[in-house]
Amino acid sequence: MNKMKRIFVSAILITVCVFKTFSLEQVYLDETRPIDERVEDALSRMTIEEKVAMLHAQSKFSSAGVPRLGIPEFWTTDGPHGIRPEVLWDDWDQAGWTNDSCVAFPALTCLAATWNPDMAMLYGKSIGEEARYRKKDILLGPGVNIYRTPLNGRNFEYMGEDPYLAAKMVVPYIQGVQSNGVAACVKHYALNNHEANRHTTNVVVDDRALYEIYLPAFKAAVKEGGVWTIMGSYNLYKNQHACHNQYLLNDILKGEWGFDGVVVSDWGGTHDTYQAITNGLDMEFGSWTNGLSNGASNAYDNYYLAAPYQKLIREGKIGTQELEDKVRRILRLAFRTNMNKNRPFGSLCSPEHIEAASRIGEEGIVLLKNENNILPINMNKIKRIAVIGENAIKMMTVGGGSSSLKVKYELSPLDGIKKRFGDKAEIVYARGYVGDPSGEYNGVVTNQNLKDDRTNEEILSEAVEIAKQADVVIFVGGLNKSSYQDCEDSDRKGLGLPYNQDNVISKLAKVNKNIVVVNISGNAVAMPWVEDVAAVVQAWYLGTECGNAIASVLSGDVNPSGKLPMTFPVALSDVAAHAKGEYPGKLRNDGTDIVDCNYSEGIFVGYRWNDINRITPLFPFGHGLSYTKFKYGKPVVSSNTMALDDKIVIKVPVTNIGDCIGAEVVQLYINDLKSSLPRPIKELKDFKKIKLEPKQTIEVEFTITSDKLAFFDDNKHEWVAESGDFRVLIGSSATDIRQTVRFKLSDDSIIASK
Ligand code: GLC
Repeated sequence: MNKMKRIFVSAILITVCVFKTFSLEQVYLDETRPIDERVEDALSRMTIEEKVAMLHAQSKFSSAGVPRLGIPEFWTTDGPHGIRPEVLWDDWDQAGWTNDSCVAFPALTCLAATWNPDMAMLYGKSIGEEARYRKKDILLGPGVNIYRTPLNGRNFEYMGEDPYLAAKMVVPYIQGVQSNGVAACVKHYALNNHEANRHTTNVVVDDRALYEIYLPAFKAAVKEGGVWTIMGSYNLYKNQHACHNQYLLNDILKGEWGFDGVVVSDWGGTHDTYQAITNGLDMEFGSWTNGLSNGASNAYDNYYLAAPYQKLIREGKIGTQELEDKVRRILRLAFRTNMNKNRPFGSLCSPEHIEAASRIGEEGIVLLKNENNILPINMNKIKRIAVIGENAIKMMTVGGGSSSLKVKYELSPLDGIKKRFGDKAEIVYARGYVGDPSGEYNGVVTNQNLKDDRTNEEILSEAVEIAKQADVVIFVGGLNKSSYQDCEDSDRKGLGLPYNQDNVISKLAKVNKNIVVVNISGNAVAMPWVEDVAAVVQAWYLGTECGNAIASVLSGDVNPSGKLPMTFPVALSDVAAHAKGEYPGKLRNDGTDIVDCNYSEGIFVGYRWNDINRITPLFPFGHGLSYTKFKYGKPVVSSNTMALDDKIVIKVPVTNIGDCIGAEVVQLYINDLKSSLPRPIKELKDFKKIKLEPKQTIEVEFTITSDKLAFFDDNKHEWVAESGDFRVLIGSSATDIRQTVRFKLSDDSIIASK
């Protein structure tokens, strides 16, 4: 374009901007106007610089607004379990605020273990209120990456191994958060299923596994949850980083699913300006630049979607179509959040949030084993309780990576047990072992002095001594939030418990058979001592109200109703990814640092793998005991043939045959007896959590429609339900099937994209 023409065009543009800016009718500020009209009006008032500034961070956790137009900046916050304490403008370290302590809600594995969407709604609403009160516009959570290996350091942030369960639990969480006018940000999209080599792993996976296992929770978040933002993951897929990935972002997310929100990068997940422009990224956060050392006034100007992008536009090397689309999405997000004058004001550390944290924790705890009904603890017989283990005292809300928190308080298991039982029994504590005495993350300290200079032998013999004299031993161990445990940016080295805990448990079990093991972890662990102990309780990371939740279950104040959201294998070799040698992947020998990780097990993940290989797990997916028992009566089926677009209704009577109130999760699995492509022997397709008084019967009703029978045919790139015979398996876990019914689907059907 020659100089005269450029001047003429610039003069026109400036005139339009000036006109727009001062035009009387400021549509974008008018709440009564449709959002998309407001978007177009705001867009038309913005300069190129202002548009590009919106696309990237201006600080560690914020991005620019348009000060001139009164469009606010966006403030993001970690994380999925609570609102992260304030950090410095341009750093990860603490800003030193004194008003930013929060409630730590239980980790999302615990939420998933409730199998109760109402708990997910309560969770989302509560954490959304805390984010709103702290004036945050985007909550960087929830995480829904599928549990492919028990070594993944971040499994504690996610919702287990089954796509249907994760999809059902993520939707209400998002709706709860967004009811506050705060955007949820479902993450990490997609295929971020372990932490080893997380920035350089290129996932190789077939479309069947992609669409049937790894995408459904994200799709539900978008199509049912209406999530306003989504975070790209660090890894690559089809050799493109997920933060700017044509397939995941443009083809699937924005194409097939019609996502109208904003794609944000993970922090430092952006690697290429052209790809960031054309492959669906909308906001770039946290990319490491050394702009400060290069003398640039602002490191953030060096972001891929910052000065480099602006330069390409200025030089006419790229148009503004993508820019306009990104800014339209960001403006739409503004009108949903920080420009929404009607959103509530939120609240922080309220009694309601503490109650919510406690309830979710109580309902997510899973009773794995309970021999001779040692639990609940009978206070008429128990006079001395020995509590042993570092996890009985160690704070777990500090550490683990970006989900680390600065909490108002965290009640430890030991303190919870003392509070609940201390007036009726003598409570004696011993460490048993020393794991990780440190207690600091990003400048947040636990202020616990866990240093112990005794020898391991001295520490163990002390524990054995108090175990000998106790009526019941409660061992509280498991993993923690240190690196190579349940922690971001590293994976575990093995399935076993660290710090020689297996030996400690075995020694304690030898001197007292009344031993209850409370395992605090976000992952399955090996339990070579499982036959030697009377009870095992899976207690997750329960957050602020940890001690109360554990004590409520151990005492019987709460009847446990949690169910495992993932399989607990006996050994790592029972897990598909490890049995096939496909973890953590193979380094390319092409001089790059790319690690190809081939998900060659395909759709056979978790219990799906166990079923086709006849592997008996330590504890199966969906397992969880109660202090009462439930009987499943004979199901009544509305028909034994289902026509196209018809439905079958199955009613199954469930009775509480015990003598205390209890809740049961009735699970429904589908088995396609004949299919043109391989299918798992069973797939979870529905569940209902019901509460029953003693002797009460409830008729649980399930409706089967063809979409619940479908599988993804990657040849046709469609979901199909093929005619033929199906079995419906109804049970209390993936291996505890109580009733089955059969029916025939009379016609093939293509399921409109679900
Ligand atoms: C981290 C995490 C992501 C988090 C972000 C901001 O690297 O992967 O989950 O929200 O950076 O802390």
